[in-house]
Amino acid sequence: MSIPEIKTALPGPKAAAIIARDSKSVSPSYTRDYPFVMAKGQGAVVEDVDGNVFLDCAAGIAVTGTGHSHPDVVNAIISQVHKYLHMSGTDFYYEPQVELAEKIGALVPIPGPTRAFFGNSGTEANEAAIKMARYHTKRVNIIAFLGSFHGRTLGSLALTSSRAVQRTGFGPMMPGVFHAPYANPYRNPFNASPDACAEASISYIEDQILTQLVSPDEVAAIVVEPIQGEGGYVVPPAAFHQRLRALTSKHGILLIADEVQSGMGRTGKMFASEHFGLEPDIVSIAKGIASGLPLGITVARADVMDWKPGAHASTFGGNPVSCAAALATINVLKSGVVKNAAIVGAHLMGRLNALKERYALIGDVRGRGLMIGVEFVRNRVTKERATTERDRIVQEMFKRGVLILGAGRNALRFAPPLVLTTDQADVIVDIFEQALVAVTNNQG
Ligand SMILES: Cc1ncc(COP(=O)(O)O)c(C=O)c1O
Repeated sequence: MSIPEIKTALPGPKAAAIIARDSKSVSPSYTRDYPFVMAKGQGAVVEDVDGNVFLDCAAGIAVTGTGHSHPDVVNAIISQVHKYLHMSGTDFYYEPQVELAEKIGALVPIPGPTRAFFGNSGTEANEAAIKMARYHTKRVNIIAFLGSFHGRTLGSLALTSSRAVQRTGFGPMMPGVFHAPYANPYRNPFNASPDACAEASISYIEDQILTQLVSPDEVAAIVVEPIQGEGGYVVPPAAFHQRLRALTSKHGILLIADEVQSGMGRTGKMFASEHFGLEPDIVSIAKGIASGLPLGITVARADVMDWKPGAHASTFGGNPVSCAAALATINVLKSGVVKNAAIVGAHLMGRLNALKERYALIGDVRGRGLMIGVEFVRNRVTKERATTERDRIVQEMFKRGVLILGAGRNALRFAPPLVLTTDQADVIVDIFEQALVAVTNNQG
């Protein structure tokens, strides 16, 4: 069988019937770009309910790093479900949670002893980080970055600033949040050179936020995505993170790295912070940690996680089945999958950069490992955003059998399972090129 293989019109009859039912019963707030209805998956290959076979370049929004239903993860889950499904780590003890706290503590780029708090999702990992920062520092204010995505519950939503639709209708937001421009080398908001964007962003925090708006000794934390995810897979210069670390240390402000999307091997290192030599005080983890089972973890310096019993907890957080999946996921990632992300990611990046030479619609290719963003522009000088063209490329790739998602206003994110092979990466790029040709030929 060749992969991908599209056998029916899309959606096929079974998919269409399920989507019709979904449209009457499921929340209309979800943003489905195309009618893919999952039946099963293995590695980087997924099949829909009509038997159409796709290559997955989205991994359930950067979640299934070990690939769909990796046998080691599935076996760990099965073994755990036969023992017990739930006990609640807030009131009782169970070893998988302790073991995971030890293992993840040894992996995060936080120096010294750590502790782990368990939730169920990325937004909960950030809620815990925000609460912990306020509790520990006895300060209330938080600084986040424009274009960031930290979740949708009311605490993390106040930090999220990637698309207005995510905030519209839900105000007033949690007070005490200030936003600074992210150091985006391609779209430097200060019109400085790519290298100078780190300097400009830090100066904005120092000279404007911390001078004109809020005293540094009232700021609990700065929350940053080491590589911005939903905002467009933006890679800042290393100087940005180094200056941020120096600034926070100077003022006793905690530095929270939101590694929900960039962590767990996605960038070819276990955590994206490692690419920049960044040593945060708190790290938020979710998505790829348990290969698809719900789990969020907030790991912090042991002296920072000093809240008292009863201060924070979650009934389901750190569920034993999710912990078992996470322990197996970590083993699989360490046994060559993170390395594979670096190798196949470099290959993919090379091929995408070659396409940039030939297609003016591609303004920028950036990323690390298998977290790669391609930004589309109508004009390389003015950088006019090619949003409709990006949306059409997503559709054209779906029609040809590749699942991919946009990021930011006009970028495409290549975020496949980290077990993707070089051959599969080549097929994705070939189909991407076909989509580019289709969209470029049909302009206007
Ligand atoms: C960087 C980042 N933080 C937090 C979240 C929120 O995670 P969740 O959807 O699991 O709440 C996301 C989700 O996309 C994310 O990319």
